[in-house]
Amino acid sequence: METSSGKVALVTGASGGLGSAIASLLEAAGINVVVTDLLVERKDQDQTALGKSPSAGHSMDRNCVSTDPTVSEVRTTETKSLTLEMDVRNPQNISEVFRRVEQDLGTVDILVNNAGLMDNFGLMQVQNPLRWEEHLRVNLTGAFLCSKAAWTGMVKSSWGRIINISSIAGLMGAFGQPSYGASKAGLIGLTRSLALEGATAGITVNAVCPGLIHTDAIKSHKPEFLDRMKNRTAMRRLGTPEEVAAVVLFLASAAASYVTGAAIPVTGGADLYTF
Ligand SMILES: NC(=O)c1ccc[n+]([C@@H]2O[C@H](COP(=O)([O-])OP(=O)(O)OC[C@H]3O[C@@H](n4cnc5c(N)ncnc54)[C@H](O)[C@@H]3O)[C@@H](O)[C@H]2O)c1
Repeated sequence: METSSGKVALVTGASGGLGSAIASLLEAAGINVVVTDLLVERKDQDQTALGKSPSAGHSMDRNCVSTDPTVSEVRTTETKSLTLEMDVRNPQNISEVFRRVEQDLGTVDILVNNAGLMDNFGLMQVQNPLRWEEHLRVNLTGAFLCSKAAWTGMVKSSWGRIINISSIAGLMGAFGQPSYGASKAGLIGLTRSLALEGATAGITVNAVCPGLIHTDAIKSHKPEFLDRMKNRTAMRRLGTPEEVAAVVLFLASAAASYVTGAAIPVTGGADLYTF
C-alpha cells in the first residue's frame, strides 16, 4: 500500500485507548506523530526510559502523556515524535501547539480528531444542559477548532487528511446518551461539509465510526451491559483499538486519495440487523 511515510500527523486525546493505538500504528508506518492530550506529566530527565519506549517520546499511560521538557522531541531512527499538552476546548492552546509543530516538524498533514467524552449517561429528565454543552464542546467543537488550525497548512501544501473519530452512536443514535449521539452525528456532518470544501484542495475528510471497542474507557460498564452489546454485534465480540487504527492508517495513506466524506463503520456488524 502507498503509505504516508515521512508525513506529520497530530492525534488528539491520544494518551490512551484508541488514540494511542492510532498514534502507534501511524508511527510504525513511518509517519512523524504528535501525541496530544489534556494532561502532560513532565518527567525529569528519563531519556533511557524514553529511548526504550516503542513509540519514543511518549508513554502510553492512561490520561497522561509523559514527556521530558528538555527532550520533549525524541527522534527514533526513522520518525520524529512530539508529545504536547493540548485541550481541544482552548483555541489559543491549539494555535500554540500547531505553531510549535510547524516549527519543529513541519505542517500537520494528517489530523486525527480522536479526543472525546463518553461519560454523560442518563434519560432526558435527568440530563444536565451543562454536560450537554461540554460534550458538544469537546466532541464536536474541538474537532472543528483543530481542523481549522490544520486547514491553512493543508491548503498550502495541497495535501491533507482529516480523520474524525465518530461512533456507531453518530450513525444510529445512543439510548440514554443524547449528547454523545448528537455530538458524534454532528461530527459526521462536519466531516461531509469539510470534505466538500477540501475536495478540490487535495484534502480528504473522513469519519470512522467504531462500535464497542475494548479500551479502558468502557471498562466501567457493567459486564451484563457488555454481554448485551456483544450479543447484538454480528461478530459477537468487541473490537480492538488496533482494528480501528488500521482503518485510520488506510484513510491517512496516499492509497485513500479518492475516499472522502465517508463515515466508515468499524463495528463488527453491530449496525446491521441481527438477532
Ligand atoms: N471505546 C469505544 O468503544 C468507542 C466507540 C466509539 C467511539 N469511540 C470514540 O473514540 C475516541 C477515543 O475513545 P477511547 O475509548 O480511547 O476513550 P478514552 O477516554 O481513553 O479517550 C478519550 C481521550 O480524550 C481525551 N480528552 C477528553 N477531553 C479532552 C479535551 N478537552 N482536550 C483534549 N483531549 C481530551 C481524554 O483525556 C482521553 O485521553 C473518543 O472520541 C470516543 O468517543 C470510542
